[in-house]
Amino acid sequence: MIFLNINNLSVSIEGKKILNDFNLTINQGEIHAIMGPNGSGKSTLANVLAGNEDYEVDSGKIMYKDKDLLDLNIEERAQRGIFIAFQYPVEIPGVKITPFLQASINSKLKNENKPELDRLSFAKLLRKKAEDLGINSEMLKRSINTGFSGGEKKKYEILQMSVLNPEFTIFDETDSGLDVDALRIVTEGINNFKNNNNSFLIITHYQKLLNYINPDHVHIMRNGKIVKSGDISLAGEIEESGYQNF
Ligand SMILES: Nc1ncnc2c1ncn2[C@@H]1O[C@H](COP(=O)(O)OP(=O)(O)OP(=O)(O)O)[C@@H](O)[C@H]1O
Ligand SMILES: [Mg+2]
Repeated sequence: MIFLNINNLSVSIEGKKILNDFNLTINQGEIHAIMGPNGSGKSTLANVLAGNEDYEVDSGKIMYKDKDLLDLNIEERAQRGIFIAFQYPVEIPGVKITPFLQASINSKLKNENKPELDRLSFAKLLRKKAEDLGINSEMLKRSINTGFSGGEKKKYEILQMSVLNPEFTIFDETDSGLDVDALRIVTEGINNFKNNNNSFLIITHYQKLLNYINPDHVHIMRNGKIVKSGDISLAGEIEESGYQNF
């Protein structure tokens, strides 16, 4: 089944064209990676998929299963199982992790006509997931990302993913700023979560992350569009000789 189908998408910010007839199709159960030089439009793509309204969609279509994604607001996208971890996660002082995640998961469950989780069963679930990811339970009492180190923010994103159980996840440079142990925790988190029913779009600059995750498809993005697609060996080519050949 096709999860995401992006067709001739063009996007601009303040009159400047950033995505230029961009095309991408992701099927259920697939991991796709996008690599590309700084400023090629990777985070712009993540923002448009998230529903950030600062970005102007000039033309094109994004279908998520049978729904036109551009008709859905941020919350509706989350309720339908889309999860996005951003390059620069925002700090939300005063919003505590535990009640925030409980409200988020319950909003999704409600939308699926499933029973919501009470405080105790949610706390149990959260502690278990945190433990699996090597996250200290003290952290769960804190405000979202507030004062977290770069690596802690990335781990928190993985925790959020494993709690919300999305069917389509987008990671924007989850690897930057991670030490080797944190990189292992993050990639193990992704690999443990991965199954035949969920899909991923992983934006990265590094072959190393892809070696751990082993994506089905690797795409090179330049000047707002995909210029080459292939398997993981593309990542090796880039590591070796950069983007000059693309
Ligand atoms: N809010 C904005 N206002 C103005 N220009 C923007 C804005 N967001 C992105 N751009 C521009 O759009 C282009 C693409 O940016 P984008 O962040 O998508 O690149 P990227 O591929 O994610 O790069 P990197 O690898 O450095 O993260 C850049 O030239 C950037 O300056
Ligand atoms: Mg970026």
